[in-house]
Amino acid sequence: MNPRPIAVFDSGLGGLTVLRALQARLPHEDYFYFADTRHLPYGDKPEVFLRERGVQIAAALAARGAKALVIACNTATAAAAEAIRAATALPIVALEPGVKPACNLSRSGTIGVLATTRTLASERFQRLVAEHGRGQQVLAQACPGLAETIESDGPGSAAVEGLLDRYIAPLNAAGADVVVLGCTHYPWVAEAIARRMPAGTQLLDTGAAVARQLERLLAAGGLLGGGSGRSQLTTSGGPERVAATVDRLFGQKMPVAHWEP
Ligand code: DGL
Repeated sequence: MNPRPIAVFDSGLGGLTVLRALQARLPHEDYFYFADTRHLPYGDKPEVFLRERGVQIAAALAARGAKALVIACNTATAAAAEAIRAATALPIVALEPGVKPACNLSRSGTIGVLATTRTLASERFQRLVAEHGRGQQVLAQACPGLAETIESDGPGSAAVEGLLDRYIAPLNAAGADVVVLGCTHYPWVAEAIARRMPAGTQLLDTGAAVARQLERLLAAGGLLGGGSGRSQLTTSGGPERVAATVDRLFGQKMPVAHWEP
C-alpha cells in the first residue's frame, strides 16, 4: 500500500483519455495530472526542446512525490522517453502507437497510423514499423493542427471535421482496415473517424494496455494501492480556460490548478 499519487502528463488534455483508462482499471489509486498547455502542441516542437522539457517535468513530478510516471503522450515518448528513463528512478510507462497489435489484426494488410508530425518523424516510430510492419503497408498520416483544434474548438467543431476529412481520405483510398490512434488526443474524435471509414474498420487506442502495464509495474515494485481514488488536474496554462475545455471534453466540471514544473 502506497498513498503517493501516480503522475500523468501530456502536452494538454489528450492524456485525459489515458487517465480515464487508468481510473477504470486502478480506481483506488490517486492521480496527479499535468497538462503542459503553455507548450501545446508538442507535435510541431523540435525534438531537443521536447527532450529537455520532458526531463524537467519528470524531475518535478518525482520531487512532488509521485510513485510512478505515465507519459500519456506519444510525441513526448518518441522524443524524450529514453532521456526521462535515464534521468529518473521512477517506474515509467511510456506510450507508443499500437503498430504491433494493428499489424496482427489487419486482414487487408494495410494499416493507418494517425499521429503528430513529430511522432511519425521519430527514430522510435521508424523502428516500430521496421520491427512489426514487415510485409504490411503502414500508412503514416501526420495530422498537424488536430490536437490543438480538438482543445480550442471542440471535438465536434467544423474545424475538426474539416481536418478529419483531409486526414482520413488517404487511409480510405489505400484500403486501411485498422487505424491506430497514435496521439492521445484522437480518442476524443474516434466516432468522427469511424464515421468516415467503412463499417468494420477497427480503431486502436492504447489506454487499456497502458493501464495493464502500469498495474504490472506497480505490483512488481510493491507500489500498488493505497490511494483513495482522487485525481488532481494541473496545467502550465490558464486554469479557468483549461477547466472549461475539460468540461467540454468530459461533460464534467473538474477543478484545475496552475502548476509549473
Ligand atoms: N497528445 C499528444 C500525443 O499523444 C500530442 C499532441 C500535441 O501535438 O501536443 O502525441
